[in-house]
Amino acid sequence: MLYGVIGDPVDHTLSPAIQNVAFRSRQIDAIYVPFHVKPQNLRIAVSGLRALHVRGFNVTVPHKVKVLSYLDRTDAAVSAIGAANTVINQNGRLCGYNTDGIGAFNALTEAGAQPNGKSILIFGAGGASRAVAYTLAQTASSIRLVNRTPAKARQLANRLRKKFHTDIASTTLSSNLLRDLVEQSDIIVNASSMGMNGNSNLPVQAKWLHSGQWVFDLVYKPSQTRLLDLAASAGANRITGLDMLVNQGACSFKLWTGMEAPRVGMRHAVEQKLLEKEYAESS
Ligand code: ATR
Repeated sequence: MLYGVIGDPVDHTLSPAIQNVAFRSRQIDAIYVPFHVKPQNLRIAVSGLRALHVRGFNVTVPHKVKVLSYLDRTDAAVSAIGAANTVINQNGRLCGYNTDGIGAFNALTEAGAQPNGKSILIFGAGGASRAVAYTLAQTASSIRLVNRTPAKARQLANRLRKKFHTDIASTTLSSNLLRDLVEQSDIIVNASSMGMNGNSNLPVQAKWLHSGQWVFDLVYKPSQTRLLDLAASAGANRITGLDMLVNQGACSFKLWTGMEAPRVGMRHAVEQKLLEKEYAESS
């Protein structure tokens, strides 16, 4: 059986490392491969995957929104979020799901940060943030969306308010309310690209963070981000982008196979792969 991921670029993806270990560990006769698909080829690529009886695939940047036009069915969360990252091929019918939100929720609960009833601040208002906010807004007591472009955060807050009764508000990264918002949040999630590849225009200071808080950075490159460094120095609890990666991958695996994913093995595989990549880049 063949599974894969479509994206542009796709050579950086860690998903094959995670999923192939999971298939081996569960003794499923399947392989998972990356497919480099340019935006102009998305439609024919999806038709090809269907025709070749590929059992399922992940969808990554920049196809998560556009792919919806080529699927036969999407679940309610995908329609609300407006993006899919997992597709199941059910006898030629392509069904779209989004595991980013549930992956984030599971990473939080696995670490011991129960998001239900909590005050949650989310940085970002893009695809990842939409999925995470959609899931967490269902049970949090409040959601604060903070984004570089305030109009996008406002729009997301408005959409979420129509669906959930949770207290939801938005502001911009440069807001002078940011310190209060950070200090008052139980859980802080970075679902934006801040800190990716070491870019460090981080508007948060260590003294705003405190023990008892949870800081969850979806960025996994570098695996220890500046935000997580600040959290560590403030004594706050940390959850990393690798925890996210493994948990969202585990949800995709379960959708495809119906089996619980071997998350510990997946975690080791992705750590190993990252070490190899960091070594290759430094030599
Ligand atoms: P993804 O699918 O990974 O969420 P995306 O939809 O492109 O990617 O969203 C990226 C998010 O990171 C956006 O919220 C973006 O802010 P804008 O809406 O202002 O573009 C945010 N982002 C990207 N680069 C950033 C930076 N250097 N500083 C702060 N926020 C950044």
